[in-house]
Amino acid sequence: MDDERILKCDLFGEVVLRPDAEGPVIVRNAAAARWWLRWLARYLLRREAIALAALDGINGVPQLLHLERDTLVRSFLAGKPLHDAKTDDPLWFKAAARLLRRLHRAGVCHNDLAKEPNLLVLDDGSPAFIDFQLAWHSTRRGRLFRGAAREDIRHLLKHKRSYCADRLTQREHRILANPSAMSRAWAHTAKPVYLFITRRILGWADREGAADRGSTR
Ligand SMILES: Nc1ncnc2c1ncn2[C@@H]1O[C@H](COP(=O)(O)OP(=O)(O)O)[C@@H](O)[C@H]1O
Ligand SMILES: [Mg+2]
Repeated sequence: MDDERILKCDLFGEVVLRPDAEGPVIVRNAAAARWWLRWLARYLLRREAIALAALDGINGVPQLLHLERDTLVRSFLAGKPLHDAKTDDPLWFKAAARLLRRLHRAGVCHNDLAKEPNLLVLDDGSPAFIDFQLAWHSTRRGRLFRGAAREDIRHLLKHKRSYCADRLTQREHRILANPSAMSRAWAHTAKPVYLFITRRILGWADREGAADRGSTR
């Protein structure tokens, strides 16, 4: 691979695949965001950097390689997004759950695992999570953090329900059937407003055409 390739371009900037001496890297560029959203794009970029720094050395998440005000460079992970791979391998879901527990133990909630493009089946069959713009790093891991961590787990289980429902355990069924109060409140109040603004006003269809499994069911 010799040339840069734009993987995604939206109101919040660009994500570029760039060849590098040691292999390809992924560059998020907030300078390409609309001028009136650039402050937000930079804020999200910093959030992502904080989360990735807290996850340094964990396999299955990109490594933070370089950070500037408008650019974040992270390692490339070779694989397919979940909606392309459509894996029904229970071992992938088991390993993904283990990876998620490692994130949470490191004090990071992902907060965007409803979107299948953010979960990868790597070429060696192992799981990975990308896109930490909305992630939250907390050293205290208080009540709110634990609620958000539970939502991460529910989102992963929703994907498991879509691709290998027969492998869901009783406990996992119970978790799926019981969204947290925070998630119910989000679904009934902020989420419709968020969807109205992003889809109707900004014309921002769901990202990369893949499913976004809603937060309550
Ligand atoms: N580290 C990575 N390794 C491989 N592909 C990646 C990586 N980071 C991003 N991508 C690809 O670029 C797309 C957009 O990146 P992402 O961080 O999800 O941006 P956005 O926040 O705009 O969704 C992803 O859906 C994925 O296809
Ligand atoms: Mg994404």
